[in-house]
Amino acid sequence: MTQTADKAETFTLTDNRTGKQVTLPVMKGSTGPDVIDIRKLYAETGCFTYDPGFTSTGSCESQITYIDGDEGVLLHRGYAIDDLAEHATFPEVCYLLLNNHLPNAAEKEEFESILRRHSMVHEQLTRFYSGFRRDAHPMAVLCGVVGALSAFYHDSTDIEDPVQRKIAAHRLIAKIPTIAAMAYKYSVGQPFMYPRNDLSYAENFLYMTFGTPCEPFKVNPVLSKAMDKIFILHADHEQNASTSTVRLAGSSGANPFACIAAGIASLWGPAHGGANEAVLKMLEEIGSVDRIPEIVRRAKDKNDNFRLMGFGHRVYKNYDPRAQVMRKTCHEVLSELGIKDEPLLDIAMELEKIALSDEYFIEKKLYPNVDFYSGIILKAMGFPTSMFTVLFAVARTVGWISQWKEMIEDPVQKIGRPRQLYTGETKRSFVPLAERG
Ligand code: SDX
Repeated sequence: MTQTADKAETFTLTDNRTGKQVTLPVMKGSTGPDVIDIRKLYAETGCFTYDPGFTSTGSCESQITYIDGDEGVLLHRGYAIDDLAEHATFPEVCYLLLNNHLPNAAEKEEFESILRRHSMVHEQLTRFYSGFRRDAHPMAVLCGVVGALSAFYHDSTDIEDPVQRKIAAHRLIAKIPTIAAMAYKYSVGQPFMYPRNDLSYAENFLYMTFGTPCEPFKVNPVLSKAMDKIFILHADHEQNASTSTVRLAGSSGANPFACIAAGIASLWGPAHGGANEAVLKMLEEIGSVDRIPEIVRRAKDKNDNFRLMGFGHRVYKNYDPRAQVMRKTCHEVLSELGIKDEPLLDIAMELEKIALSDEYFIEKKLYPNVDFYSGIILKAMGFPTSMFTVLFAVARTVGWISQWKEMIEDPVQKIGRPRQLYTGETKRSFVPLAERG
């Protein structure tokens, strides 16, 4: 996979304390920044690197997703996110992420049939839900139930076998919408709906979420198309926090279903996937465009830990391309639903306008990210705020499992084990109890 380091392309570091120099190879990718291969740094210098949050650290080589944060570009296996959102379906994007090419008609049909055949969950899995309080956050339920899946597929999942890795990937992609819809049904006290094999992936999810056994449920095609597009926009995103969590968990050879549960846990955080829920709460708390100046002031105040949710990104220092598509979809869904004046959208658009012209946000390159508009669409589609991050997890499962599969198949992969800068107590003698002050 790796482009061989060009011998002339090296990086020499000088230790000014000793004058010792170390020369390190520079590795070049197909695009994007070169990397300095520091694998021999500690052996040659006795020093670790220090990069909390991994702002400048490449953890792996990957061929799945490329982000150019300065240009606001997002490619999945070379295809631009705008093209995929416009012309592909989510199952096609799943196939692309897993197989590095868009499926032809036969491959697409077979893949969709596999997903349909794996969409039901073991009937015993339904019992896990009743162990949760009715008001449990659906992300807590999702994390627990997906973790429980590892108990159903542990002995039958030899991760060294490529066929079993592919089956595990298909099971996760196929079952996550069913499990997510069941989490919603449990929270509202309605019966679980079984998946239907005559519906598309997005249609099935909306059917299992909003349908009931009491009457036929017709999925609104505009909403299922919007759902499919929202899934595409959230499918994968390079080595973000939850994907890195899945990779690190998987690097020990752990059960892939348990690794995805770890990814769900990480995504839940408000700084990550939990931001879509936090954005809507923030917009509701703002309540009116008149309060926006006060909110923007708070976001800029160093002494106030309030942050403008849905703004800023570790990599994008330009408009998140997903946010552009999401904003367009937001207008489409609201007009399809005949929602003329959505105050939250008015607040969001005014907030965006003010923030983007404010020196603080311009200087810090803080732009709306994927989470800024998604909540408004999801609320209009009938999802409760607590389900927003669940939907993110449904979509991101394909990214997590594709990255997990790539990690397992990477010949240089080894168990992840970062080091540290230790600033604690150095060795000291034990103090018997009688002598402790
Ligand atoms: C996702 O990594 C991914 O790819 C994630 C994701 C994916 O698809 O997987 O894209 C999904 O998680 C999107 C991000 C959703 N999170 C939010 O919207 C929460 C609000 N945003 C921030 O918490 C923040 O912007 C982060 C967490 C997204 C990024 O933070 P960084 O890269 O660690 O940047 P930082 O915290 O160092 O901020 C740099 C500066 C700081 O000011 P200074 O210390 O330099 O003076 O910008 C400020 C921050 O205070 N800042 C903000 C801000 N975000 C950063 N100030 C106000 N409001 C904000 N939203």
